[in-house]
Amino acid sequence: MKDRTAKDQPDSSKPSRRRFLKSGAVLAGVLGACADSGNVSDSGPRTLGDIPSPYGQRSTYEKSVRYTHLSDTPEAGPSRTPLQDSYGILTPSSLHFERHHSGVPTIDPSQHHLLIHGMVDRPLVFTMEEILRLPSVSRIHFIECSGNSGREWTTPEPTVQRTHGMLGCSEWTGVSLSLLLSEVGVQSEAKWIIAEGADGCKLHRSIPMEKAMDNIVIAYAQNGEAIRPEQGYPLRLVVPGWEGNTHVKWLRRIKAVDQPYMGREETSKYTDLMPDGKARQFTFVMEAKSVITFPSGRDKLPGPGFYEITGLAWSGRGLIKSVEISIDGGQSWQEAQFQEPRHPVALTRFRLPWRWEGQEVTLRSRCIDETGYVQPSREALIEARGLNTRYHYNGITAWRVSSDGSVQNAYA
Ligand code: CO
Repeated sequence: MKDRTAKDQPDSSKPSRRRFLKSGAVLAGVLGACADSGNVSDSGPRTLGDIPSPYGQRSTYEKSVRYTHLSDTPEAGPSRTPLQDSYGILTPSSLHFERHHSGVPTIDPSQHHLLIHGMVDRPLVFTMEEILRLPSVSRIHFIECSGNSGREWTTPEPTVQRTHGMLGCSEWTGVSLSLLLSEVGVQSEAKWIIAEGADGCKLHRSIPMEKAMDNIVIAYAQNGEAIRPEQGYPLRLVVPGWEGNTHVKWLRRIKAVDQPYMGREETSKYTDLMPDGKARQFTFVMEAKSVITFPSGRDKLPGPGFYEITGLAWSGRGLIKSVEISIDGGQSWQEAQFQEPRHPVALTRFRLPWRWEGQEVTLRSRCIDETGYVQPSREALIEARGLNTRYHYNGITAWRVSSDGSVQNAYA
């Protein structure tokens, strides 16, 4: 857990942002705490430090890791981003969640090809060398598994890593899919593409041609370096705002077709069974959602005083327009501030100064995106969709802070 000493100092001002910024007393208190906690001295031993390494590692004092729950088939399963330890909006590639279906293939980029064929005028095979020579684009986007928060429907989990950790946000660099499709000449009867990976199960998804021509990136880099093997090395799709399963990793083939394939990942999986027995299919867009990451489940507030509530909001439909926070169980809501930068279809950091008096409180966040869509309450979401599905849960999360400072999922 992070050292939150600086956040724990009593604040005599009211918990408004302006008052907080104006209040010299707060900063004096924080800085005083630093001075009290030990003198900075230059009288220690003057020894040489470690020799710089060719590839960086984080400090050995940093322990945050992905949450994995290994099953009998560990090659098929998720790992979850430690959102409780996140800063800003970007997820380190090393901590970005994974969802695998048949393990991580080892691919030599000199042997890897991307085939684009089907209903096209000029089927083409691209080598990695050729793809890297094409004009590149960089976009900052979140990726969220549509099964993220899936247990919140029925059996809510204790920590924000487990409730919301199948979520990450990166800068993705690659080539516009529309550029490659224009090179091969898509025929007018082609209404879908099938994207296929080179993993053991040849994971594939059907994607409407309209989206394929819009803003999909064939990415080879994540956060400024080559995509890591578990994230799809050497090529993956980035399908802005759509469920993570469509972001096909280890991409090796795109076929232009006149209808969807009805593969496993869009029939028995990643469809949403409704109360009437019918299933929603091709529910691609990840709707607006937010969650408070501090304080969150299994945190322990050391005592009454000043804290900063912070969290993340995102929408597959564009920019997050506002985030509101309730500290009284949903009776009233106040506007949170944004921590810039803010990008469309990216994680957006929000925060709100808060003075905890030591009473039991329940903290909630809800967001509104640029389309005007409001994140629903858990009750409204269940009323609309029932409890048959494990996908597309975007209801409001509630963290209950008990009088002893312990924090729990209020719905658990
Ligand atoms: Co879906």
